[in-house]
Amino acid sequence: MAVKARFFAAAMLAAACLSAAVAAAFDVPSVAFGEGFSPLFGDGNLARTPDDRTARLSLDRRSGSGFISSDYYLHGFFSASIKLPKDYTAGVVVAFYLSNGDVYEKTHDELDFEFLGSRWGGQWRVQTNVYGNGSTSRGREERYLLPFDPTVEAHRYSILWAPTHIIFYVDDTPIREVIRHAGMGGDFPAKPMAVYATIWDGSAWATEGGKYKVNYKYAPFASDFSDLALHGCRVAATHDAGGASSGCELLGLMTADYAVMTPRKRAAMRAFRARQMTYTVCYDAARYAAGPFPECDNSDQEKEAFWAWGESKTVVMKTSRGRGRRGRGSKAGAAKARAGVVASS
Ligand SMILES: *[C@@H]1O[C@H](CO)[C@@H](O)[C@H](O)[C@H]1NC(C)=O
Repeated sequence: MAVKARFFAAAMLAAACLSAAVAAAFDVPSVAFGEGFSPLFGDGNLARTPDDRTARLSLDRRSGSGFISSDYYLHGFFSASIKLPKDYTAGVVVAFYLSNGDVYEKTHDELDFEFLGSRWGGQWRVQTNVYGNGSTSRGREERYLLPFDPTVEAHRYSILWAPTHIIFYVDDTPIREVIRHAGMGGDFPAKPMAVYATIWDGSAWATEGGKYKVNYKYAPFASDFSDLALHGCRVAATHDAGGASSGCELLGLMTADYAVMTPRKRAAMRAFRARQMTYTVCYDAARYAAGPFPECDNSDQEKEAFWAWGESKTVVMKTSRGRGRRGRGSKAGAAKARAGVVASS
């Protein structure tokens, strides 16, 4: 607890010099679209620049669109610079995620970045989630507001998946760390996954619990993906969980900058979370009465900043007239939506 309190104090201090604390930028080689990816659906709504370094996914009345990595990976660092659709985007969902839902119907793994559209232009919300071995009844959502307008220019969103921990990054700032805890059992992703990017109509739940639907008067909604990085351990056989990996040295991955959580980075992460996180499952006693998940790093001090249903008391949508939003638990993932899992919000 004393250590936690110290980190909390450090986070407060670090907030003042956040940019300095995360100055070291990732220098990750990117691939051309065709080198690492293939169209997944809505082909007509997937456009590639002549140099093949940027893919534009669009959603219109006819269809959303998406692409998928050509290979499956067991661990790695996966990243894309994403520019989100402008203007009125209620109901629109853009996702950048890892999943093996197409291979393991009942026991799939998933790591998500989901971007939930907004009635107010730039105010998209970002949601992260973790599923392992089909733990779809145990959503591990967190939601954040971004400290910038994600529709003005591209920002880098990255997922580090190591055997021991997971880190979600926004640009160079870690925003969530999931350290593998024995108590998680199979809930920690452990089978090869592919990398996906999609845009789709999430009218049923994305914006304020489904209150605001996609308005196709503003279509097409276009999202640009560039700096595509697939720095992972490729596996030959997708159906073999223990399959021999290639193109990756695990030690190299584990010791790379992006896999190492330094005290500085952890302080930057805590500062980001204190300022930007609107919801975390770790403080949602309404949904998980039995207590937080074993990997949650809860503290009594931090808990005071959250309502019992996991929403932040201090970080709220600017447009919410000072009242916290209770549209909690918008569970989802493109894979889950495809699987027909019903959201219960
Ligand atoms: C994954 O789920 C399956 C089916 O429920 C179960 O048999 C298996 O033991 C689980 N694996 C892990 C690692 O928990």
